[in-house]
Amino acid sequence: MSKTAILEIDGKKYEFPIFKGSENEEAIDIKKLRDLTGMVTLDPGYKNSGSCTSEITFLDGELGILRYRGYAIEDLAENANFLEVSYLLIFGEKPTAVQLDKFENDIRKHTLVNEEMKSILDGFPKTAHPMGILAAMTSALTSFNPKSVDVENEKDMYCAVCKTMGKFLVIATWTFRKNMGYPMNYYDNTKGYVENFMRLMFEIPTEPYKVNQTVIDALDKLFILHADHEQNCSTSTVRMVGSSHAGLFASISAGVSALWGPLHGGANQAVLEMLEEIHNNGGDTDKYLAKAKDKADPFRLMGFGHRVYKNFDPRAKIIKKAANEVLATLGVEDPILEIARKLEKAALEDEYFKARNLYPNVDFYSGIIYRALGIPTDMFTVMFAIGRLPGWIAQWKEMRENKEPIGRPRQIYTGSPLREFK
Ligand code: SDX
Repeated sequence: MSKTAILEIDGKKYEFPIFKGSENEEAIDIKKLRDLTGMVTLDPGYKNSGSCTSEITFLDGELGILRYRGYAIEDLAENANFLEVSYLLIFGEKPTAVQLDKFENDIRKHTLVNEEMKSILDGFPKTAHPMGILAAMTSALTSFNPKSVDVENEKDMYCAVCKTMGKFLVIATWTFRKNMGYPMNYYDNTKGYVENFMRLMFEIPTEPYKVNQTVIDALDKLFILHADHEQNCSTSTVRMVGSSHAGLFASISAGVSALWGPLHGGANQAVLEMLEEIHNNGGDTDKYLAKAKDKADPFRLMGFGHRVYKNFDPRAKIIKKAANEVLATLGVEDPILEIARKLEKAALEDEYFKARNLYPNVDFYSGIIYRALGIPTDMFTVMFAIGRLPGWIAQWKEMRENKEPIGRPRQIYTGSPLREFK
């Protein structure tokens, strides 16, 4: 006999089934709530509401667990590469060596971006934020690839996946090249995906690009750690936009815009700006902790806290360790890393943060590595988007394959009653 939930309203009882997931998470299935009671639930920010079932990522915020398709993030970060994890997230199983090789080669077939996209790029001022350019250019890809994806057709879906993985990486780096006034680079089909990212970003016509394998390995790991995170703000946006049957590029473009916000993916840029400000103000971390605790002060400790993790973000642990290793290997002495360590230690000992289960999240240390790799601060959230792309694609594909209904939350009206317009 499956469990049920009983709701009593005005003396009348209503029974709702309880749905249990494969990791024993439970939800009250309220699909019939309004039909039975005439009422809806109210849950701003959906803190208590599940929008869907999904087989892609499992999080346990209390235990600090993150798994992609059942594989622990620690295992994947240690033993897989980014394209392998992208394939796993999108198609559900680890690729064989042949499948992975084919996936990488099929992505290579789609890395040329229509040259006319450059005239769109030229329309942006040099001061434009790379995330704004990326959102616009991703949406513009629809103009050059107007045929919408037939999700029922495996070949068509596979091709759309490879096209998105190929073209998004290139235009992401074009946002940087544009701001620097550099000529646009093209993907080199003799190199790997992550190495191509560094070449696309930094190779200049006047001298050959020197590859640093430590940098490539660190980036590959960072992209894996950012690849998916169940129904976060930007992924929910991608699913919501896709639920109206808008195209994949249009849905990803919406996800880029949602990720840009400083409370979400934009936090990695905000963390570095915060740490630099602390450093420039003499490293007084206590002053900034006090600001973060002061309700009258809108300042928040960026890179701290999480909607789901009420324990350490498992990704933050891995990134913190990687930050130490990468900076040591590259011989980079960054005072900002010292400030971050000092701030983290002070916060973790502070009653305000402990009482609210505020721990470092994925964004707290990632920017320190990006900076050591020579990535400019306003490109940090673009890095997050490149990592999150396979997760967005996987979630969009699952939503469409499951034939989910168009997303349309309800509300409770609290405005003016009927009044005559004279
Ligand atoms: C990402 O959802 C995901 O999975 C996201 C992500 C992903 O992979 O997709 O993990 C990526 O977005 C990570 C989060 C990056 N954002 C930041 O680092 C920005 C700083 N953090 C906060 O703004 C905040 O912690 C959020 C937005 C991340 C979570 O906010 P919640 O869950 O809505 O928490 P809340 O606002 O209800 O805060 C609860 C309490 C409040 O205090 P009280 O009203 O109880 O007194 O904690 C306080 C908040 O004021 N609080 C903070 C704080 N975060 C929460 N106080 C100071 N500094 C902070 N960072």
